[in-house]
Amino acid sequence: MSIELESYFKARQDLIEKELDQSLPSEKAYPEKIHQAIRYSLFSGGKRVRPILLLAGFEVLRDDLERALPFACAIEMIHNYSLIHDDLPAMDDDDFRRGKPTCHKVFGEATAILAGDALLTEAFGLMAKTGLERGMGMTALRAIREVAEASGLAGIITGQELDLDKQGQTYDEQDLLFINQHKTAALIRAAVVAGGILGEAGEKELDALSGFAEKIGIAFQIVDDLLDFQTGDGGRKGEGSDARKKKATYPGLIGLNRSKEIAERLSREAINCLEIFPERAEPLRKIAGWLVSRGY
Ligand code: IPE
Ligand code: IPE
Ligand code: MG
Ligand code: MG
Ligand code: MG
Repeated sequence: MSIELESYFKARQDLIEKELDQSLPSEKAYPEKIHQAIRYSLFSGGKRVRPILLLAGFEVLRDDLERALPFACAIEMIHNYSLIHDDLPAMDDDDFRRGKPTCHKVFGEATAILAGDALLTEAFGLMAKTGLERGMGMTALRAIREVAEASGLAGIITGQELDLDKQGQTYDEQDLLFINQHKTAALIRAAVVAGGILGEAGEKELDALSGFAEKIGIAFQIVDDLLDFQTGDGGRKGEGSDARKKKATYPGLIGLNRSKEIAERLSREAINCLEIFPERAEPLRKIAGWLVSRGY
């Protein structure tokens, strides 16, 4: 990551983390265990890619980031719910995330399930409350609808179902594209598009943001699979977890080099979608470049 992008990320992460902290009860709230489990996962070193993308999508149109910040936090809550559940024994059965024991390893399965449920539900509550309190009307509703679709049957749920169904089975590139579009690209697309909606983007601008984000979303999952395949994530999720479970992945199907080429091509195509935004989409362009070269 360039020094410039690193300081951009750091500044955005600080904003997001402060707002997240204020959006949820403290870990001393009663009953403590559930609040501890939520905070254990939510503040354990996530990169904050999705909320940063939401803010970067917003930034293409407007500067007053506080307007979009609660929505950015909501996306991060939904992402963390999806990871807590993704790690459960009934799903990927992973013992480590971000180099630490997974939520269910520390707090037990029942509390981990509830922590995920809480994050998902509170996220929608936070967006609705923000829309109401700030009189954001239809703008908030449109953003919430994007996020709901990406989290539901048009997104994560369908993607995760197929990801599990294809485990240990034969699969082809079409299956992989479908899985990655749903389980990962949908929420990433919703983040950028919700940023645009909150910034009052027009249809043409939203189409450009949507095209960009769909492509980086697919590339993001390919790179996640590459890192797992190369065991280069420093054991953050437990090494070679996908291969052990015979997950359907691009590196598993077509090898490292071709997978990397596809991710890089998608990143270039994504950047091309942003032609209509000369300067203000610079952060989005930089993020798209970084995410196919990232090492974590
Ligand atoms: C991991 O996402 C799960 C995927 C959908 C690929 P991230 O790599 O964004 O996870 P954190 O939040 O930064 O740990
Ligand atoms: C996760 O995909 C996608 C989600 C919607 C949670 P992975 O199963 O590859 O994510 P990691 O590798 O566990 O972070
Ligand atoms: Mg998974
Ligand atoms: Mg997983
Ligand atoms: Mg993975």
